[in-house]
Amino acid sequence: MICPFKSDVLHNTMNILQDATYKVRPQNEDVPKLFQGLFIGEVFGTLVRMNDGEHHCILKLAVSQALDHFDEQYIQQQTEQVIQSSKIMIDSPEMLTQAIQTWPIMVVSEQIGLYVDDELLKHVEIFVNCMSNPFLKETIHNGNESTMWLHQRIQLVNGSLKQQLIEHCAKQNITDSLIINSNLLGFFFQTLDGTSGLIGLTLLESQLLSIKNTRRFLGDEMVVLPLQDDEESLPFGIGAHCCPGTLWAKVITATVIRYLKQLPIQKEWLQNYEWKASMNANVPLFKSTGARK
Ligand code: HEM
Repeated sequence: MICPFKSDVLHNTMNILQDATYKVRPQNEDVPKLFQGLFIGEVFGTLVRMNDGEHHCILKLAVSQALDHFDEQYIQQQTEQVIQSSKIMIDSPEMLTQAIQTWPIMVVSEQIGLYVDDELLKHVEIFVNCMSNPFLKETIHNGNESTMWLHQRIQLVNGSLKQQLIEHCAKQNITDSLIINSNLLGFFFQTLDGTSGLIGLTLLESQLLSIKNTRRFLGDEMVVLPLQDDEESLPFGIGAHCCPGTLWAKVITATVIRYLKQLPIQKEWLQNYEWKASMNANVPLFKSTGARK
């Protein structure tokens, strides 16, 4: 609960996130210029995170109902299965980082129905990197290729999360497979840094948030909104765009942490890390040597 007198910064964030005059995209630029004309731009334009108004409202309902279909026990079991079946042996800080980055994506992939291998994980990383840092031509070219690769795979599968999204979208008269498959792909973007970051920060016993800020636009003017200050935080946002994947994020994190805590992870592994390059996420990457804090 946020006290309005305690925290001016968070109070401002909270007001803006609940004010419909602030939009998730700049006026007249639904899709970033560098994505326009590319497949990744078409995908971007359909994402629940990147839309406002009536369309956002019904798509958000369908996305939330699809994710809410799965309860805590189910998500925990699926996460345990992923941990058991993955071939990651945590015998170094680098392997710890790999596990933290990989397991949340594996849980979501398998529920979409995707077979997880190194190629899939590589394309997810390239796609997410492009969505988060769309600045260099090469990043965008590679991101577009990976988006097409992942989209083709998602079209062919029929996992339970995909079935749920199709069913709940149909109730809202959303039948366009581009919208449905793109939003499943969008879950990777929402999952990777947020959940991996939360697992890493929990291991470090850090109070930092994995998603530290978000942004909104008033016309063309951008405002960056911190989700945390010295006293309060909004880890999963608030208002129309608040996170519908909160239960998934918390249960995956708790299950992975429970597993990691019973491994003989050496203390010094947790002392050497660097931060993943990101504008809005805090994701510690554990390293053997040459790391900075
Ligand atoms: C610890 C992990 C996570 C954190 C910290 C997190 C945080 C957030 C935050 C702060 C927002 C609001 C963004 C804004 O208002 O600008 C958001 C939105 C969203 N999150 Fe999460 N998230 C996490 C995991 C997940 C997972 C696992 C999923 C799905 C499988 C998910 C799906 C979404 C979606 C679809 C939205 C956009 C909702 C909308 O625009 O209406 N998130 N998340």
